[in-house]
Amino acid sequence: MLDNINRITQESIIAIKTIKAYCKKEFEIEKFDKANKELKNTSQKTLSVNAFAMPVGQVANYTTMICIVYFGGVLYMQPDHAIMLEDIQTFLTYVMQLLATIMMFSNVLMAINRSTASFYRINEILDARSEIIDKADSNLKLENGNVSFKNVYFKYNNCADEYVLKNINFEIKNGEFIGIIGQTGSAKSTLISLIDRFYDASQGDITISDHDIKDYSLYELREGISISGQSPLLFKGTVLENLRWGNKNASMEEVIKACKIAQCYDFIINQLSDGFNTMISQGGTSVSGGQRQRLCIARALLKNPKILILDDSFSALDKITEAKVKQNLRNDLPNLTKIVISQKISAIKDADKIIVLDNGKITNIGTHEQLLKNDEIYADIDKLQQIGGSEDETK
Ligand SMILES: Nc1ncnc2c1ncn2[C@@H]1O[C@H](COP(=O)(O)OP(=O)(O)OP(=O)(O)O)[C@@H](O)[C@H]1O
Ligand SMILES: [Mg+2]
Repeated sequence: MLDNINRITQESIIAIKTIKAYCKKEFEIEKFDKANKELKNTSQKTLSVNAFAMPVGQVANYTTMICIVYFGGVLYMQPDHAIMLEDIQTFLTYVMQLLATIMMFSNVLMAINRSTASFYRINEILDARSEIIDKADSNLKLENGNVSFKNVYFKYNNCADEYVLKNINFEIKNGEFIGIIGQTGSAKSTLISLIDRFYDASQGDITISDHDIKDYSLYELREGISISGQSPLLFKGTVLENLRWGNKNASMEEVIKACKIAQCYDFIINQLSDGFNTMISQGGTSVSGGQRQRLCIARALLKNPKILILDDSFSALDKITEAKVKQNLRNDLPNLTKIVISQKISAIKDADKIIVLDNGKITNIGTHEQLLKNDEIYADIDKLQQIGGSEDETK
């Protein structure tokens, strides 16, 4: 119950903006009050039992002592002195020690009862084992950014009936710029999480740099791949510390180069009060969504990866900045394999190859022009987005 109160408090603090925006303050207060009352009632019951048990215990203690002294005295007063005074004294001391131990034991029992719940939860976490088997002693080096998927199937829970990804086949050559497009829930993020081995495919083979990804150590594999996810996070610290999180040994020139490619150099210098030394608040809430996305792209580049994966990382960028970042990636990093996931055709239309995903299946692969001709769904999305785009611009 205490755990429930902690959870509600934590949730309310994290979601404070949403609660205020939806005018749900009263609702949250009610929720907290309810949890608080439940804890109060249970605590009251426990404390009442405790409050009753304590005096009963004390009465039993003192009654025992009085009985010992009384009956000991009666025996001592008998003409033949059935027992001696020091015997009574010794017996009394032993009994007092025994009673004190019993009282203490009951307190310990209560404490054990309380901590058992925590013990089970902590153990659950400590016992959790990753299903990903790391070939930690492998010396295989990830040489280039070739990627291939052959007959790959995947489901999140091995007991689930439905595959989230079905019969995925494609090849990416080192240095190519690949776009992945599909409706929300079509398994785009799931597909790229297999490349970095956050999950292992249920069936099929995935190779990078012409070797099975399971043959690399996880360290080597993940050092060679940079992912900037859908909700990228920054940490509390300076801008520079956050950028160097990608590579702590990066020189200032490398940092500036990565920032220029990701189009964040100008705003760091001109808009942030202290440039690279500006403090960023926890979660990166002190910079705008678009600034956070660009900083995260720069951080991903500083890792010097062979493969860069940008999962909806342009969603908060205007079209001009988006185009510049893509152009920089192409021109400055020709040997880097770039995989860009987006629901916007504008973000991927100039890719060397576009993979169209629908409900976990690849429906088509081709360039923008080829897909416009061959893929009805893609052509429809393009038409709709062009209408939406021109409406946005006229507004
Ligand atoms: N951790 C998970 N456990 C179980 N199912 C999941 C998990 N993550 C995603 N899914 C399911 O897998 C399917 C694909 O999800 P995914 O996040 O890959 O879609 P997406 O194409 O990236 O969507 P979006 O464009 O909204 O980001 C969805 O039906 C989703 O419910
Ligand atoms: Mg996604």
